[in-house]
Amino acid sequence: MVNAESFVREAKEEIQNSLKGRGILACSGGQDSTLLAVLSGMSAGDRILTVFVDTGLLRKGETRRVEEIFRKYSINYRIIDASERFLNALAGITDPEQKRKTIGRTFIEVFEEVAKDYGADTLLQGTIAPDWIESGGSVRDVIKSHHNVGGLPEKMNLKILEPLRDLYKDEIRVISEFLGLPNDIQPFPGPGLAVRIIGEITKEKINLLREVTDIVERNVKTEYPERQNGPWQFFAVLLPVKSTGIHGDMRSYGLTVAVRMIDTTDGMSGTFTKPSWEFLENLSTEITNEIRDVNRVVYDITNKPPATIEWE
Ligand code: XMP
Repeated sequence: MVNAESFVREAKEEIQNSLKGRGILACSGGQDSTLLAVLSGMSAGDRILTVFVDTGLLRKGETRRVEEIFRKYSINYRIIDASERFLNALAGITDPEQKRKTIGRTFIEVFEEVAKDYGADTLLQGTIAPDWIESGGSVRDVIKSHHNVGGLPEKMNLKILEPLRDLYKDEIRVISEFLGLPNDIQPFPGPGLAVRIIGEITKEKINLLREVTDIVERNVKTEYPERQNGPWQFFAVLLPVKSTGIHGDMRSYGLTVAVRMIDTTDGMSGTFTKPSWEFLENLSTEITNEIRDVNRVVYDITNKPPATIEWE
């Protein structure tokens, strides 16, 4: 296991010795890239710019949460609101791989523009050991195109720095804790809510799913106050299925959401979480009470494999 104090010292030295001009990095708000942003700020101050792209596909309060961390650690950052651009690029697309590729491409376009504007010559990447080990014989990338692993460097002609490349997930957690960073961030896919909306993406669907996701997250956090005792990932998926129901005394014809909760240690394989029936009942009641357009909630009882964690 890594020694956090010496890792931080060595990472700072590596960044300081390698950075000649200006560096840039994309922070998703996840554990790895947030740690990278903090280390970069500690090592090179304003000579490294941390970019957070708001794709419009994020969860409720996500941009604010990330910005608070940037402020707390005096990170030199820019938040780019590109939500309209992503929405326009996604219009009419229903195929999951095409969605992922469109989001990846749009992300690169936005990021490249900022890098150029800032005059960066170095790209800092939050690659960790499992990322490059997997990409050797990559099963994962064949199954789904992960937009935030690879893709950026080849096109951008920037020098690459990967200070976290030898770390594993548990070591990232130890170092984050050492630096006082939250160590309980739930993994969230780069393409965001888009891969949890089956079919075409619209602003209305994103807004609806964002609210349902918030209800799921609040309920899970209350049920499992200790992150390590609860599911690894927990979220909602908006299905392209309508069904008949009752709202008040009236017939309704409403939307269906699936709730997914997964127990795993690494995301590579996992089993569905088995919460109490009462928990699921309360969750379903809260969703259908608060979100009028939803009249049916189903629980995903599929392990990985054969299913993947995300539905797309
Ligand atoms: P799957 O759906 O492949 O997901 O079983 C495994 C883990 O990866 C996350 N995931 C992604 N993470 N970019 C990411 O950084 C992506 O494009 C992406 N797609 C899925 C997923 O949330 C789960 O934790």
